[in-house]
Amino acid sequence: MHRTRDKGHMLWIDLRDRYGLTQLIFEEGKTDKKLIEQARSVGREFVLKATGKVIERVSKNPNMPTGDIEILVTELEVLNPAKLPPFLIEDNTDGGDDLRMKYRYLDLRRDAVRANLQLRHKMAQQTRTYLDGLNFIEVETPVLIKSTPEGARDFVVPSRMNPGEFYALPQSPQTFKQLLMVSGFDRYYQIVKCFRDEDLRADRQPEFTQIDCEMSFITQEDILNTFEGLVRHLFKAVKGIEIGEVPRMTYEYAMKNYGSDKPDIRFGMTFVELNELAQGKGFGVFDEAELVVGICAKDCADYTRKQLDELTDFVKRPQIGAKGLIYVRYNADGSLKSSVDKFYTEDDLKQWATRFEAQPGDLLLILAGPADKTRKQLNELRLEMGNRLGLRKPDEYSVHWVLDFPLLEWSEEENRWFAMHHPFTSPKPEDIPLLDSNPGAVRANAYDMVINGVEVGGGSIRIFNRELQARMFSLLGFSDEEARHQFGFLMDAFEYGAPPHGGIAFGFDRLCSLFGGADSIRDFIAFPKNNAGRDVMIDTPSTISDKQLNELHIRTVAEPK
Ligand code: AMO
Repeated sequence: MHRTRDKGHMLWIDLRDRYGLTQLIFEEGKTDKKLIEQARSVGREFVLKATGKVIERVSKNPNMPTGDIEILVTELEVLNPAKLPPFLIEDNTDGGDDLRMKYRYLDLRRDAVRANLQLRHKMAQQTRTYLDGLNFIEVETPVLIKSTPEGARDFVVPSRMNPGEFYALPQSPQTFKQLLMVSGFDRYYQIVKCFRDEDLRADRQPEFTQIDCEMSFITQEDILNTFEGLVRHLFKAVKGIEIGEVPRMTYEYAMKNYGSDKPDIRFGMTFVELNELAQGKGFGVFDEAELVVGICAKDCADYTRKQLDELTDFVKRPQIGAKGLIYVRYNADGSLKSSVDKFYTEDDLKQWATRFEAQPGDLLLILAGPADKTRKQLNELRLEMGNRLGLRKPDEYSVHWVLDFPLLEWSEEENRWFAMHHPFTSPKPEDIPLLDSNPGAVRANAYDMVINGVEVGGGSIRIFNRELQARMFSLLGFSDEEARHQFGFLMDAFEYGAPPHGGIAFGFDRLCSLFGGADSIRDFIAFPKNNAGRDVMIDTPSTISDKQLNELHIRTVAEPK
């Protein structure tokens, strides 16, 4: 029972099921008096069985699929009464996050959440239709495996039968799908759970789902076309949207113009560099900076002092870490006014405005500092301005590829190279000579798909040769022994006729939330974890008994908090 309306001589019950609402009517003169009294005693969320006659409604509701009819009830049975739910089962519920997570089974009764799961189902179906049509085979890979390094921590499972030894849950099926290629399965996919013990955010869950794919005898171009095709198919089949051409940009271009490897290109505001124009005029902050770079916010010259202070505070937040923000107002009357007027003439500022292709009425926002850091800070500011100006519309989609990622990234903390994608990613053949002399400059055959500033998928062409794979492990600081211990099986397999191969994995939850126009993936997962990685409904993680611990040969246990 969703809700009742009681007008004395007439009473309605909205009966809810997965498919929507059906209106039951009880009317004096037409319905037995006892039955009306019985209907009056039915509470929210009671489970009912009603028998009656489907009749045309007097006042129809054109906003509901069942709005033309109602059921004149002749028999009513309460199959199960219900306690009053702890929050309203309505689109605009009064339940906070924690409460809704605790009673997730009730939250799932709400239309909005149910519709998200319906969408997810449709996405999975259409993914299978598309990939099956291209002769991909879905193969299940094991969940109890040995750790695969994808950059996050593993969840581990103790083995009762092998004292002191552990399985790891897969961060992805990466090595298995590569082995399937060696086995000759040439086109594989799997909609598969992956597990990563990492810090959680709106678009990260400790267990999440990938559309994991791999192909043999292909080039990067084949992969891009095949999976652009998948996303095109999903947009068409699920949302009825034709997406146009899918642009491609290199990692280098993305970083230089957007300060991000997953730029939101629904709006412009690309970076403009000012070094030669702004340096050498006595303004120390600019003179000493490796990079002076800014964005042009259209029609924002009339921002108030308060608004500009807000933006300055925004970039100075510890998470962003800029030292300050310089602005130039290009006023509607053509005059220019900046926060650094002491150092620059109006002519200087005019030159900047020209470089920005700014128009009177625009506002220039400029940061300076070390190049990489400053670009990242300006990326945050650009996204913030995009939000403030309403340029990031959830129902507008831009899909693009970012290509040619660096193979390696240097970790200051650990003082060694890390694989930017994963250790199985192939360097660009023309960059292989740089592996020894300048590893940081080696580009990979690796690609990400980005939708609306969200990395929805990533993959690469793989190494399929034992020597190159061994060289890669050694670059990453593995001893021969360690490499053999962890990945001997894969390197051995490469010696038995391994085809050239490559693949990609999409974050399925992220794809679903984007299609649903939401930022958080949580509401597209039936039973998600909260930000502390807990399932508050079943109350886990939880302690286990001493008996279990003994069986698992686990002797020392940290006291739970
Ligand atoms: P990668 O690590 O880039 O690649 O993961 C692929 C995609 O999975 C999604 N994703 C997540 N979604 C939700 N919660 C998480 N914690 C999470 N982590 C990742 C992202 C990401 O783009 N084996 C490789 C793929 C390959 O090379 O074929 C891999 O897992 O959308």
